Amino acid sequence: LKSVHDVDISSRRLLIRADLNVPMNNGGVADATRIERFVAGLKPLLARGARAVVLSHLGRPDGQRRPELSLEPVAAALGRVLGKDVAFSEAISGPVAARSAAALGPGDVLVCENLRFDQREEANDASLAEELAELGDLYVNDAFSCAHRAHASTVAIAERLPAVAGPLMMAEISALTQALEAPQRPAVALVGGAKVSSKIDVLFNLIGKLDTVIVGGGMANTFLAANGLPIGKSPHESAKFETVRKILSRAQSCGCQIVLPVDIVWADRFERGAEAHIAELDCCPQHGMILDAGPRSIERIWDVLAEAKTILWNGPLGAFEIEPFDHATEAVAAEAARLTRVGKVKSIAGGGDTVAALNAAGVTEDFTYVSTAGGAFLEWLEGKELPGVSVLRTPQLA
Ligand code: 3PG
Repeated sequence: LKSVHDVDISSRRLLIRADLNVPMNNGGVADATRIERFVAGLKPLLARGARAVVLSHLGRPDGQRRPELSLEPVAAALGRVLGKDVAFSEAISGPVAARSAAALGPGDVLVCENLRFDQREEANDASLAEELAELGDLYVNDAFSCAHRAHASTVAIAERLPAVAGPLMMAEISALTQALEAPQRPAVALVGGAKVSSKIDVLFNLIGKLDTVIVGGGMANTFLAANGLPIGKSPHESAKFETVRKILSRAQSCGCQIVLPVDIVWADRFERGAEAHIAELDCCPQHGMILDAGPRSIERIWDVLAEAKTILWNGPLGAFEIEPFDHATEAVAAEAARLTRVGKVKSIAGGGDTVAALNAAGVTEDFTYVSTAGGAFLEWLEGKELPGVSVLRTPQLA
């Protein structure tokens, strides 16, 4: 991969695709890890005299302008981490954004509004890519965590400007390659979180490469419901029941063990102070929501981890943002960290929420490697060439 370190950037306006898709809470940034990791690579570029136009998405607004998903507070947080003012453009592209980009001096930074407010972004649309290309003269993809998405800001744009990989993209690829070159067996994956539809197909493909898959969070609700268990009003995806059945039967035929919760924690609402009930699997009432795995599930997971040599983790095991529903995620994080500290396992975790949960549990430093990437990390594990990376390998314009 050609890296931004290989080109002269002193007089250039860099159009940098970052991943500022950070967990938010009450309009503020709840976990700044992705911002901090990005800034570590950005600072030296600015010191070399580059001007930076930063593009990112936040959440999944589906092509609509949604004020609660504006990148403005994230741009302010970026400025705080960087220690300097960062300009913000409400326009994503077009003449207004282009004027703000043209006004940048050496070392200046501009953040444009959430790319996904424009429905052309996820459609990998050529006209949006043309407009974005007007904002800079060298495209730098520094969002390894978005490289599994073929969007206008990750693929179409790289076909229109000279394109290189950014510092964080390079660091992620080299660290993951090193950590997972020949993973020691048994290899155990923990897969949770709320993004069921975008991860469940990846799970199907990963099964052949792993010894055990522990399923948690919203993903587990979908598995439990597909098995005919009551899940009340828990978030789940009934459209994926068939995929669940395929995963279970494929796991059986390739000898991969699937570990599902054996007990649950439910509440009647997802709010701080909501009463948490520990219950058997078949006891979630109609008005209840499963918000965490129960204590026996935690012990079961600990037993599985005790046998592992490699732990791969993407997605929290419960609604970790609110106590006491962070309990399973925290207890499992603490155990994975302990096993790593005593040298029994290599542990690799990834994803915005997962990193936030590890930070909250205070164990991030103990893990062998923590990636900012979630879905991209899983697809990379599958052995797939990610579209945002492969487009950087093809011959560029300059
Ligand atoms: C992530 O959080 O994994 C990336 O920012 C990609 O987000 P997405 O799953 O909404 O495309």
